[in-house]
Amino acid sequence: MIDAAALLRARNARADAPALACVRVFGCQQNEADGEKLRGQLLDFGYGLTDDTAMADVVVFNTCAVRGHAEQRVLGNIGALSHTRKQGQIVVVCGCMAQQKGVQDVLRKSYPLVSLVFGPALLPRFAELLWRVVHQGGRHFHLEDATAPVSEGVPVLRSPPPRAWITVMQGCDNFCSYCVVPYVRGRERSRAPENILAEASALIADGYTELFLLGQNVNSYRPDDGTTFAGLLRALNELDGDFSIRFMTSHPKDAGSALFQAMAECRHVAPMLHLPVQSGSDRILLAMNRGYTRERYLSLVAEAREAIPGLNLTSDIIVGFPGESEEDFDETLSLVRAVRFDSLFTFLYSKREGTSAARLEDHTPERIKKERFQRLLELQKEVEHG
Ligand code: 5AD
Ligand code: SF4
Repeated sequence: MIDAAALLRARNARADAPALACVRVFGCQQNEADGEKLRGQLLDFGYGLTDDTAMADVVVFNTCAVRGHAEQRVLGNIGALSHTRKQGQIVVVCGCMAQQKGVQDVLRKSYPLVSLVFGPALLPRFAELLWRVVHQGGRHFHLEDATAPVSEGVPVLRSPPPRAWITVMQGCDNFCSYCVVPYVRGRERSRAPENILAEASALIADGYTELFLLGQNVNSYRPDDGTTFAGLLRALNELDGDFSIRFMTSHPKDAGSALFQAMAECRHVAPMLHLPVQSGSDRILLAMNRGYTRERYLSLVAEAREAIPGLNLTSDIIVGFPGESEEDFDETLSLVRAVRFDSLFTFLYSKREGTSAARLEDHTPERIKKERFQRLLELQKEVEHG
């Protein structure tokens, strides 16, 4: 097999001027973490890094597909390149948006400046994908299923301490009816605990004091040896040093006393829990395929607060899911009033092609959805300041 990283290094070493690369990241923390791996690999291939797309020989967009708005922003950014583009510039689109056939068709037809497209699963094979473009030219579109285990040892350029991302698992098997993530990031795969512990120790030795564990659903962390997420927290807690552990995201259907007890007993684990509820209405929760009821959620929150003194509790809510009635929305408001989240991330429902909710009829006018969204924001403001 060719060593594509070495070939890129040799080619960049021969260039008259140092070749430069620019990585733009959109979306969630997992994408930020992947962005650090893209930058780390580009450095390893002999590129210098720049923030200026106009100066870059390679521009990489690490994209997000969770809502339509994020996709539009990325397309706008790619389009804007055509005015400032450096001669021979290679434009790469990767991440979740790139793993959708419909998006690949749009890029192929309407964005001729894009020459390499690949989804999150191929990130560890960046060297070979980029080498093909540099060496052969042409346009390369990859659409492979994410089945490979989470890769180890990919070069990473981290931001300076205190915070470091650690991916513990990838993918999602929940198929919430509105969500594109299971389609673009594939099935759940967990890293072996010994690899996570080794990474955490090295980070602590390097002065990182805020270790942030990442996974679409950390509570389904389940490597081959059967370690649970609570077990992983306990093992990390045994490491020496001055550091705290945070994590996200927890799914309410998988969170429970094992997690709360571990959080309460581990001195290094911060008392912070992000527990997305999405809606306060049982009817909508069922249509979302969330796997819990309003009552179950409320009792989980009570249990978590009882177990973990001073718990900081945050959540996500989607407004305007297809068929959400005024009564359903009132249930969401009353849940927010009852729980009093420390902060709330609120989203207007965005229809994602290929998800099962995309086939639902949706008669609520956009104006009403926006109005509800405002009411929710105001209520949360009241909760936070009242
Ligand atoms: N529309 C709106 N919000 C969404 N989210 C996920 N998919 C969608 C969608 N189609 C929100 C959920 C999730 C957060 C990361 O993004 O609230 O928890
Ligand atoms: Fe999407 Fe649900 Fe998986 Fe979260 S748990 S990534 S909302 S399918």
